[in-house]
Amino acid sequence: MAQAKKSDSSPRPTHSIRASGGKASAKVYVGDCRELLRRIPECRPVGEQDERWANGGVQLIFADPPFNWNVKYDKWHDAMPREDYLDFTRNWLDACIDALTPTGALWVNIPDDTAAEIVVHLKSRGLTMGNWCIWHYRFGQNTQNWFINSKVHALYFVKDPANRIWNPDDVLEPSDRATTYFDPRTIEKKEGRAGLRLPMDVWYGQYWGRIQGNNKERRANHMNQIPEVYLERVILSTSNPGDVVLDPFLGSGTTATVARELGRPAIGVEFSTDNAASAVERIRKGAVRVGLARNQSTAIFSPRKVSERALEQYRDRLEKASES
Ligand SMILES: C[S@@+](CC[C@H](N)C(=O)[O-])C[C@H]1O[C@@H](n2cnc3c(N)ncnc32)[C@H](O)[C@@H]1O
Repeated sequence: MAQAKKSDSSPRPTHSIRASGGKASAKVYVGDCRELLRRIPECRPVGEQDERWANGGVQLIFADPPFNWNVKYDKWHDAMPREDYLDFTRNWLDACIDALTPTGALWVNIPDDTAAEIVVHLKSRGLTMGNWCIWHYRFGQNTQNWFINSKVHALYFVKDPANRIWNPDDVLEPSDRATTYFDPRTIEKKEGRAGLRLPMDVWYGQYWGRIQGNNKERRANHMNQIPEVYLERVILSTSNPGDVVLDPFLGSGTTATVARELGRPAIGVEFSTDNAASAVERIRKGAVRVGLARNQSTAIFSPRKVSERALEQYRDRLEKASES
């Protein structure tokens, strides 16, 4: 596939949604992100932007690109020769790196077949990997020849590990020690909050399934929609309210919908005019699950058997420690 053309003028958003009622603004551009990111004022490369956006104006990028799996997207051709797909991938990654502030974070949602190439490229460009997370879902496509696929990689990269936005307290969840083993070590620990912990790097649980069938979040005519709770965790942990959040492959609008709900101005780029219009409708309507999965245990074993009295004592101690 040919490289996207470069142009100097600033494009106008195809759709603009104003901030209102505690929700942030959102701008949606229709076109190829490889070309548009290099022209959108907040995303221009260092040296090419106006002063306000020197060093890149985007704090957080969440990218869920086409996987080149021959999916029938509305417009995008999802079956490139492998080398072209890798060129395409490196091209949009570079545009994202340029758009990021020095404290910024880049997340990429990508399956097994291209995760390694993306990691190598981002490292070669000087970014640091914070986490290699896994989004695990239970309903992968049934197969007979290989183990059933049940995950996508959520790659978390930063420009500067010593100087990044990191809000662990906003995404804590009850630990297994607290919910399952009634283990006093979760009360006595010196770091972190009693009974709570940061999520592990494999993400699953209620509301974390693929968005299919009659799922409440599902939007018609969108392929590969991502759950809102996934974006909620990413946005809360690695951006602050007021920070600009960019999604170069907007799709059904999950990132912008959740970002706006959480008080982060959103920018989305989408190749298909119809997808963009549908995403805008969703962004205006608002998220349906933000907040629901917060503070929820992901333990997979039944609680250990302990006496009523021991349990009561344990809960008392935990409550006191949580209050202090
Ligand atoms: C995997 S989907 C994104 C799904 C999205 N995360 C969601 O939750 O709905 C990829 C989207 O990127 C769009 N797309 C593909 N190539 C693009 C490009 N070069 N620039 C902008 N959008 C593109 C496709 O039309 C598709 O809607």
